[in-house]
Amino acid sequence: MAAIDESLRDAVQSLGPWFHNLRLGPSGMVQTAPDHPLGDFPANFWHFFRHVVPEDLSGASVLDIGCNGGFYSFEMKRRGAARVLGLDHNGHYLEQARFAAEQLRMGDIEFRRLEAYDVDRLGGLPFDFVLFMGVFYHLRHPLLALEIVASVLAPGGRLLFQTMQRGSQERADFADDYSIDEHDIFSDERFPRMYFVERSYAGDPTNWWIPNAAASLAMLRSVGLRVVEQPCPEVYLCERDPDASLPLGAAPFAATRVLSRGDRHSDNGGEGTVP
Ligand SMILES: C[S@@+](CC[C@H](N)C(=O)[O-])C[C@H]1O[C@@H](n2cnc3c(N)ncnc32)[C@H](O)[C@@H]1O
Repeated sequence: MAAIDESLRDAVQSLGPWFHNLRLGPSGMVQTAPDHPLGDFPANFWHFFRHVVPEDLSGASVLDIGCNGGFYSFEMKRRGAARVLGLDHNGHYLEQARFAAEQLRMGDIEFRRLEAYDVDRLGGLPFDFVLFMGVFYHLRHPLLALEIVASVLAPGGRLLFQTMQRGSQERADFADDYSIDEHDIFSDERFPRMYFVERSYAGDPTNWWIPNAAASLAMLRSVGLRVVEQPCPEVYLCERDPDASLPLGAAPFAATRVLSRGDRHSDNGGEGTVP
């Protein structure tokens, strides 16, 4: 056993650095990121919202966008999902996820390289359960991505959404419209706001847009979703809102089609469905 653990440890190290701390090996003793600055991440975070994910996902199709090392994909498979598809645009993380899946005997999870903006090109749409965790604030076009992600959710399906949030956590009621002379609401920290990070935040130049809590909620509503539960401040369990009337300018399906491929940074080649 010790010899197996040692060779596994070497393999894990050669695939590093890891962002997800996974427990691998027959004894589960080999951790992939034991010195993670956030502790036993993301197990220590999952603990706050795991109860809002159905214990039994038998028969469900699950999409994990920005799957990284696969932590959430593995949890979904443990809950019996029929199909789990993990996507990430980073090949290094996908290599880790595939390796971990093999170690965990979950080789039937699919891991693919894809941009979050391209999930509506996948075959097998829609999905019963979609995870969009820790990706939103890394995007230069976050509302576009959210519209596209919402579009792949099956009626009755659920989206688990998480974003970094900064600024006010408070909520307030605002009118549907204001006169152009009204300036004060924009100084109210409770008004939906997105902070644009031009250079870097927390040492990460891919942190682009950070919403306050009101903006997270407003944008979820704006793509036709309603929040079913908010188990902790940055995590929202959502479903399609049958009563939502999408605002002018929100054309989830059509809008994505007119973007040039170059804008979307896909490694996916030309147009069409991704099988
Ligand atoms: C902060 S990590 C979150 C990982 C995991 N979802 C979680 O919550 O622990 C962000 C992940 O999203 C991926 N990512 C960032 N931008 C992406 C994009 N445009 N399309 C697909 N994946 C993206 C990154 O490569 C990274 O694995």
